Amino acid sequence: MFDHFPFFPEAASTIAPEVDKLYLFMVVVCGGVSLLVGVLVIYFAIVYRRRPENEIPVEYEPYHLMEALWIIIPGIVFIGMFLWGAKIFFMMSSVPRDALEINVTGRQWMWKFQHMGGQSEINQLHVPIGRPVKLLMSSEDVIHSFYVPAFRQKTDVLPRRVTTYWFQATKTGTFHLFCAEYCGTNHSGMVGWVTVMQAADYQAWLGGGTEGSPVVEGKRLFDHYACNTCHTNDTTARGPVLAGLFGSTVSLRGGAKAVADENYIHESILNSQVKIVDGFEPIMPLFQGQMSESQVLQLIAYIKSLTPQKAAIPPISNQTPGTSVANPGTAPANSRTR
Ligand code: CUA
Repeated sequence: MFDHFPFFPEAASTIAPEVDKLYLFMVVVCGGVSLLVGVLVIYFAIVYRRRPENEIPVEYEPYHLMEALWIIIPGIVFIGMFLWGAKIFFMMSSVPRDALEINVTGRQWMWKFQHMGGQSEINQLHVPIGRPVKLLMSSEDVIHSFYVPAFRQKTDVLPRRVTTYWFQATKTGTFHLFCAEYCGTNHSGMVGWVTVMQAADYQAWLGGGTEGSPVVEGKRLFDHYACNTCHTNDTTARGPVLAGLFGSTVSLRGGAKAVADENYIHESILNSQVKIVDGFEPIMPLFQGQMSESQVLQLIAYIKSLTPQKAAIPPISNQTPGTSVANPGTAPANSRTR
């Protein structure tokens, strides 16, 4: 909508015109009020200046109605701005259910993307037009921030936490991606491109993938770390059943509840001691420092894929013996943290 304005980046997402409208409204209102105040200050200073050296100002009681109006009208305008902004914030925060999920990890100083089909990219992200895309983001080291000006959206990428960023592209083309949080020497070089493609082109592009999908890789990690020793599909097992866990509400020891979203699973993998599921012992080893963030995101993808219908965890048969984490009764596996 404001593409023809100088200094305005292209608008290429469904959110972008909403942000632009609010931004323009705020610039016009605040600019107009500043201008009016500035002009009146100068005008009054000249017209009502003291003329004789010893002039005494007249006592003056301002109109109450006038006072009330200049409180009420700006009050309504500013609360309106807040509500308008809140509405856009909610649009940005509520991810459509059918969104295409892509894992994102930030590290000094690059962006890594993994599609659910297994395709990986560095500093390049290919997405289809007209379809909600949900980025599940985490950082391997320090705080980064994922920012695509054309989408008018920016979200911090944090270590030990999953943040989400969703958008629906409305234009094909390539759009600049920036890291918007100072993250060290080459922060300014932590840039990339988001390429928005027609659905058919995107499908063709996906066809080139070779690596295992996050779900497949997650399953591999799940077996590697012998998670299935305790997380069997049996309710009497030492660990909670994971099939159907994602999105459900979990009862915790002490009576609290938690929604099993990406962040909950992330925390439960890396530091299982924070939220103990009611009825279970805190015996799960800590995996903090044991795996990379992209691996955690793959495990999350795998756990999300487990639905109660398809009992996706096969019975344990040929476990690799000797991995220390396979024995949950022993010392926490993070005893060799860095
Ligand atoms: Cu990453 Cu700045």
